Amino acid sequence: MNMRTRVGIIGAGPAGLMLSLLLSMEGIDSIVLENRDREGIESTIRAGVLEQGTVDLMTEIGLGERMKREGSVHHGIELRFDGEGHRIPLSELTNGRAITVYPQHEVIKDFIAARLNQGGPILFNVEDVQVSNISSSQPSLRFVHEHEQMELQCDFIAGCDGFHGISRASIPEAIQHGFSRSYPFGWLGILMQAPPSAEELIYTYHERGFALVSTRSPDLQRMYIQCDPQDDIANWSDPMIVEELQLRLATTNNWQLLVGPIIQKSILAMRSFVIEPMQYVRLFLAGDAAHIVPPTGAKGLNLAVADVRHLARALTMFYKQNRTDLLEAYSTTCLRRVWRAEHFSWWMTSMLHRFLDDDAFQQRMQRSQLDYTVSSRAAATSLAENYVGLPFTW
Ligand code: FAD
Ligand code: PHB
Repeated sequence: MNMRTRVGIIGAGPAGLMLSLLLSMEGIDSIVLENRDREGIESTIRAGVLEQGTVDLMTEIGLGERMKREGSVHHGIELRFDGEGHRIPLSELTNGRAITVYPQHEVIKDFIAARLNQGGPILFNVEDVQVSNISSSQPSLRFVHEHEQMELQCDFIAGCDGFHGISRASIPEAIQHGFSRSYPFGWLGILMQAPPSAEELIYTYHERGFALVSTRSPDLQRMYIQCDPQDDIANWSDPMIVEELQLRLATTNNWQLLVGPIIQKSILAMRSFVIEPMQYVRLFLAGDAAHIVPPTGAKGLNLAVADVRHLARALTMFYKQNRTDLLEAYSTTCLRRVWRAEHFSWWMTSMLHRFLDDDAFQQRMQRSQLDYTVSSRAAATSLAENYVGLPFTW
C-alpha cells in the first residue's frame, strides 16, 4: 500500500513524538513509525530530569498540567564527597531557573495521548523500516505493518530512532564523521519502593565509585551506582546493592538512606557519541540517533527536544515562507548545543567517577575540581547554568 505525508518520522521516542506535535500545531502533517508496541515504550524506565526549557516548551504546547501536578521542581542539587554534602543552589545561580523531575515514560504517555487526540497517526509495531531515494527531493520509507508491505512517500524524513536505529546508517559513510568515547564503567540503576531520602538529587564521588540518588515519586526512588559495564545484574543481590549505596553515600553527620524493596534493576553502559553533520539531503537526524551523552549530566532527552524544536521551526519556515535557510543551518545550529552538552556530560562524568587506571595524581585532580566547584560561585554557576539548560537561542 502507498501512503503520503509531508514529514515521515522514524521513532516514537521523545524526539519523534515532540516533532510530530510541534509540526501539527503548525498544520504540517506527519506520520510516526515505531517498531515497538505502545505498552513497551510507555513503560521503559529512562530519564528523569527535565531542563527548564523542556518544561517551558511542554507547558507552551499544553502538556504541562500533569507534569506540574505529578513532577517535582528542584531548585538545587547536592555534590557529596569525603562524607560531606555541598548544595549547588541551581535557581539562585541562574535567575530562578530550575529542573523538574518527571519520568520519561510519563512524558511519553502525555505525548502519545496528545498526538492520538489530534488524530495524528502513530504506527506501532512496524518492521523492517528502510529509507529509500534518500538523495532525491522525494524520499520514502518502506516498512512492513500488520504483515503488509507499505511505502510512505515524504517531503522530508526525520530520523528520531535512537542510537540503535537505522536512519543514521542511511547516510553515506563517506560524508559521516563520528566522534566517540567509551567509558570503562557503567551504571547499575534501580527502582526502590521507599520514601525519598533527600529533597534534592545527590551526586556522590566515593573511592568505591560514583552513586546517584534521584527520585520518581513520593513512594518510588531511582538510584544508580557505578559498576563494571560487563557485569551481570544477576551478580548483584538486592542486599548487596543496598550495602553499596550505604557505603558510598555515608556522611560524617549520619545521614540515613531510607530503604525498601527493589522492584527493578539493570546495568547500562556509558558512551559519548556525535555524528556530523546531522543532515543528509532531506534526511534530518534528531536526538539519540545523532548523539549520545553519558547520563551524569541528565542531558539526552533535553537535547532531543532541543533538536526537534529547531527542526520544527525550520520545516515551518519552509512550508509557510518557502525559506530553506533554517533547514540548511539545522546541523550547525544543533551541533553547537550538542557539543556543549557533550562537554558538560563528559566533565560531570570525569569528575565524579573512579577510573580503573586512575593514579593518586588523577584522584587529587578530581578532588580539587569538586572542591572548587562547590566553593567558587563562578564555578558553581557554570555547573548550574549547564545543568538547568542553556537558553534555546544557544
Ligand atoms: P529514544 O528515546 O531512544 O527513542 C527512539 C525510538 O525509536 C524508540 O521508541 C525506538 O523503539 C524507536 N526505533 C528504534 N529503531 C527503530 C526502527 N528501526 N524503526 C522504528 N522505530 C525505531 N536524558 C535526560 O535528558 N535527563 C535524564 O535524567 C536522563 N537520564 C537517563 C537515564 C538513563 C538510565 C538512560 C538510559 C538515559 C537517560 N537520559 C536522560 C537519556 C534519554 O533517555 C535519551 O536521550 C532519550 O530517550 C532520547 O530520545 P530519542 O527520542 O532521541 O530516542
Ligand atoms: C534519573 O532520575 O534517572 C536521573 C537523574 C539524574 C541523572 C541521570 C538520571 O543525571
